[in-house]
Amino acid sequence: MKIDILTIFPEMFEGFLNTSIIKRARTNNKVDINIHDIRNYSKDKHKKVDDYGYGGGRGMVLMPQPIFDAVEDIKTKDCKIILMTPQGKTYNQKIAYDLSNEKHIIIICGHYEGFDERIRTLADMEISIGDYVLTGGELPSMIITDSITRLLDGVIEKDSHINDSFNNNLLDYPVYTKPVDFRGMKVPDVLLSGHHANIEKFRREEALKKTKERRPDLLEGVKDE
Ligand code: ADE
Repeated sequence: MKIDILTIFPEMFEGFLNTSIIKRARTNNKVDINIHDIRNYSKDKHKKVDDYGYGGGRGMVLMPQPIFDAVEDIKTKDCKIILMTPQGKTYNQKIAYDLSNEKHIIIICGHYEGFDERIRTLADMEISIGDYVLTGGELPSMIITDSITRLLDGVIEKDSHINDSFNNNLLDYPVYTKPVDFRGMKVPDVLLSGHHANIEKFRREEALKKTKERRPDLLEGVKDE
């Protein structure tokens, strides 16, 4: 899968691209992530990418020309173009799964006080990562990229994401590691029993209990077994 990210702050992505699972996925050619500096597409002699908004009142607004030129240069026939904005559809695991089946995604990071309204016409989809406002779309674009990349074949063990929180509308069940007794807090006996059916049952019950306590809104979509 190919992910192209358009930004005016390419330096923000260095740590993200070169750490842990994302680094490994890139090295193993499971994902091809490219960061494009919008400034390189500016036709202005000072490489300007923003200007004052008409009508006054707001601060600097990203101009359409560099972003249109960048998208037209990078896009492919079946690519999906996503605009990061707090006004978009709220992101969730279902959208992550859907996007992980795409071949090519282009993510446009908005910035400053906003972007020229005409930039919206480029996007197939507008995504928000939640009801709060960040200084720009860079962190949201990393969140989207991270959540998609870990779902790609061969990036992490399939078992790890099949049991993720939010799959089947359930939060994840609790997990434990060594030691069996830590400061009097014990690992539940069933997990030490080696009895797979009982372990499965325990995990499902715990996931249900946790979801009921913390996110009852998710349970409307859970099938009874
Ligand atoms: N840009 C600024 N805030 C954002 C948010 N919550 N989601 C997506 N893009 C953003």
